[in-house]
Amino acid sequence: MIRLGVSGLSASYGRTRVLHDVALPDLHDGQLLGLLGPNASGKSTAMHCLARQMKADGEIRIDGDLVSDIPHATWLRKVAIVPQSPPAPTSLTPTELLWSAVRALDLALSDRSLAARIQDIFAELGLSELAFAPLHTLSGGKRQLVGIALALVRDPQIVLLDEPTSALDLYWRLTVLDLVRSRLARQGGAAVIALHDMDLAARYCDQVALLSNGRIVAAGLPAEVMTPDNLASVYGVEAKTRMGEDGRVTINVLRPIRVS
Ligand SMILES: Nc1ncnc2c1ncn2[C@@H]1O[C@H](COP(=O)(O)OP(=O)(O)OP(=O)(O)O)[C@@H](O)[C@H]1O
Ligand SMILES: [Mg+2]
Repeated sequence: MIRLGVSGLSASYGRTRVLHDVALPDLHDGQLLGLLGPNASGKSTAMHCLARQMKADGEIRIDGDLVSDIPHATWLRKVAIVPQSPPAPTSLTPTELLWSAVRALDLALSDRSLAARIQDIFAELGLSELAFAPLHTLSGGKRQLVGIALALVRDPQIVLLDEPTSALDLYWRLTVLDLVRSRLARQGGAAVIALHDMDLAARYCDQVALLSNGRIVAAGLPAEVMTPDNLASVYGVEAKTRMGEDGRVTINVLRPIRVS
């Protein structure tokens, strides 16, 4: 069963088209797709379209159903997005945010079970000691972790993560990606992650799709897509790639080769 299928996706802001006929590799159960591309290439726009937050032409199917046909309540239980911007600094606490996000789903979940679920995700993301701290007292990276907790606590089948590790240190980058992968392995479903970090993408993604100016220029296995030629033409950098014994490609970016 294809969990997520996307083809012919086009989207505009006003009269300006920013996504052109985007097709993504089909995602099967337990798979993670990396969405790559330079600034302004259309990653977040594609995420908004997948999250049904923006009108788009084309076809997006989840478990075979067109997303436009999925009832709102079902949708909220099925799909969650971690937006590029972390939750704004407010006087609300992480616990209050997660509690209200799950309660909005109208799940048959006791207060005790919900409290346990929130405790677990906070423990996994190193937020236990900040559970009752107002958000405006948290660092930027910790707020980004709260944003990830906010999506994952809902136990969605499809997770959309828009640069979820951009503010995180080395330990939490790997821990967040490990958590996403272990959830996919345990619970099934599928995830799409927009990333600028090529090494993370190569290490964790089953497949990647490379966007440039709103168009897919390459898609497939990380080693097939992250080639020196593609990195030069799309990002304007000179890079060397090396295939590790584990079949993962690693990338050494040497220098910019054009003024951007
Ligand atoms: N709300 C908006 N109104 C008008 N144009 C927008 C809006 N949001 C994004 N755009 C434009 O759409 C294009 C794609 O932007 P998008 O945010 O999807 O890129 P991105 O790949 O996520 O970039 P980044 O890596 O910087 O996050 C850009 O040209 C951007 O200026
Ligand atoms: Mg973006």
